[in-house]
Amino acid sequence: MLIGIVGGTGPAGSSLAVRLSSLGHTVLVGSRTEEKALGVVRELREQDGLVGPIRGASNFEAVSGELVFIATPWDGAQSTARSLAKELVGKTVISMVNALLKVGVEMQPLALARGSAAQSIQAALPESFVVSALHHVPARELGDLGKAVDCDILVCSDHPDSKEKVIGLLDSVPGLVALDAGSLANSGAIEAMTAVLINLNIRYRARTALRITGIERD
Ligand SMILES: NC(=O)c1ccc[n+]([C@@H]2O[C@H](COP(=O)([O-])OP(=O)(O)OC[C@H]3O[C@@H](n4cnc5c(N)ncnc54)[C@H](OP(=O)(O)O)[C@@H]3O)[C@@H](O)[C@H]2O)c1
Repeated sequence: MLIGIVGGTGPAGSSLAVRLSSLGHTVLVGSRTEEKALGVVRELREQDGLVGPIRGASNFEAVSGELVFIATPWDGAQSTARSLAKELVGKTVISMVNALLKVGVEMQPLALARGSAAQSIQAALPESFVVSALHHVPARELGDLGKAVDCDILVCSDHPDSKEKVIGLLDSVPGLVALDAGSLANSGAIEAMTAVLINLNIRYRARTALRITGIERD
């Protein structure tokens, strides 16, 4: 699959690119500045274990992917999505954006008018199929190809076919289990939980992730 990542030059997007390319997908790492994306991809290539097909691109080029991830900070996500709305018509767009604010030493969830970053992106992309996913997976673990990723992914969307497609893709990542968490209205709770995990990381000097109990697994 050809997969684009808007804002792919940060820790979240670039580790996702490394992981997806290791599974044989061609990944376009998008940036507001193509030169920056080319530099980031050059650095990723120099890292041990990166063998998959991966290219630096502008955000505009990155949205040519069959699936498009948005991996920018929350405050740039809606305007970025809006600027690419025409190119994203009819596509599945995955938001991994968390609406969080640092207050003193603590991370706190931010109450956005539409309920979540994912719903703001859906409002900016009325003709696209927005799926919310990957909020809790720590970037470092996602990008470490030497290990399986020990994490459940809560996936929500108002578009069942797109949700299924994304669950299928994420389930193919060793260790990840993607769970259907309902409609996009649930994204606020999922994004907010990220603040809790980050605060646990700070308090216990840890890198926490979520595993849901009570679901029968294979
Ligand atoms: N880090 C994690 O472990 C993790 C895990 C799960 C989810 N997330 C979520 O994923 C998103 C990205 O996380 P990150 O840590 O990679 O963030 P980041 O490094 O702060 O930002 C990622 C990229 O977004 C672009 N960007 C920055 N400000 C922007 C703006 N105002 N408008 C458009 N693009 C902008 C930048 O790329 P260019 O300058 O190249 O355009 C930057 O490299 C966040 O919403 C975060 O909550 C993070």
